[in-house]
Amino acid sequence: MTDSAFAFGLGVGTENSKGEWLEVFFPQPLLNPPAALVSAAAECDSGDTLSANKLADLATRLEQAGEAGQAALALRLADSSQPAVAVLLREDAPPANVPEGYLKLHLLSHRLVQPHGTNLDGLFGILPNVAWTNEGAVDIGELAERQFAARLRGEVLEVSCVDKFPKMTNYVVPAGVRIAHTARVRLGAYLGEGTTVMHEGFVNFNAGTEGPGMIEGRISAGVMIGAGSDLGGGASTMGTLSGGGKLVNGMGEGCLVGANGGTGIPLGDRCTIEAGLYLTAGTVVAILDSEGNAVETAKARELAGRSDLLFRRNSRTGAVECLTNRSAVELNEELHAHN
Ligand SMILES: CC(C)(COP(=O)(O)OP(=O)(O)OC[C@H]1O[C@@H](n2cnc3c(N)ncnc32)[C@H](O)[C@@H]1OP(=O)(O)O)[C@@H](O)C(=O)NCCC(=O)NCCS
Repeated sequence: MTDSAFAFGLGVGTENSKGEWLEVFFPQPLLNPPAALVSAAAECDSGDTLSANKLADLATRLEQAGEAGQAALALRLADSSQPAVAVLLREDAPPANVPEGYLKLHLLSHRLVQPHGTNLDGLFGILPNVAWTNEGAVDIGELAERQFAARLRGEVLEVSCVDKFPKMTNYVVPAGVRIAHTARVRLGAYLGEGTTVMHEGFVNFNAGTEGPGMIEGRISAGVMIGAGSDLGGGASTMGTLSGGGKLVNGMGEGCLVGANGGTGIPLGDRCTIEAGLYLTAGTVVAILDSEGNAVETAKARELAGRSDLLFRRNSRTGAVECLTNRSAVELNEELHAHN
């Protein structure tokens, strides 16, 4: 077996009363770990809970491998009473268990891989649905008892969310971002430097922004938004596979999707969609020349990935039109001036 691997992480997490993982926090996930680290960690069974003794042994091997930082991490985990785990992903295969799934979500939110940069096949089936509370992650089947126990202590167990994915900011806050409402960004989101997510903005896992950018709308799973682009208030991007087709949705650089607008096709660079216009892949679009005359019609999917386009719904005729986008840069400069 070679000493190369896709990723490695030492984590601490929560198990239910049956010893099944609910979630794992990886403070220092690694992409393509060095060979010495891979051989030091090779004996750990990926995803198994590690005893304090095993963690201490692992710490010694990591130290000998010259991995002082990861060795120190292993020792701190050995000192804790919380369940700990080491995950070594030899290849970028579909996640096989909860710790592997969580490591992959961390790789995305730590900006170690971009959306679509790791295989997440079957992730939904692997992750348990969890009650995220002020006492941490609680198994749904154990929630009623935990609520009752809290009441008997004169307290309320605050359940802020019931979901397979926790909020990203309880695991990592990448440098240079603003997030007005932290519950709107799931673990597994990729937020590039200079990204602002306003209160109505939402970023799903395996989706995100290259940064900088202003997100006041919804970024669906699988969608990546290029540098300097804006998703206006209430605007949205359709999911990864547009209309059941094979188009991977996204936006290039310097784009603006106006308030309450949306796109079901990937946009190239410097494209604008007028506020309120939701462009689906099948929308018939009249293409205008520089004089404003319609020269041809096309389905929006035929314009996927093309740059410098402005889409609007003609307020006199109701027809969706496509023009060359002259105002894109100005609009974005103004919007970014106060990022
Ligand atoms: C589509 C949009 C970008 C056009 O803005 P613009 O390029 O500055 O264009 P203007 O409003 O100056 O209009 C230019 C011309 O096109 C015409 N026009 C604009 N929109 C039109 C429409 N939907 N139908 C017909 N004509 C239209 C204008 O009447 C004007 O005509 P004129 O040259 O004869 O006076 C803008 O309307 C828009 O929707 N911006 C989104 C802003 C936004 O939502 N930001 C996010 C906030 S959260």
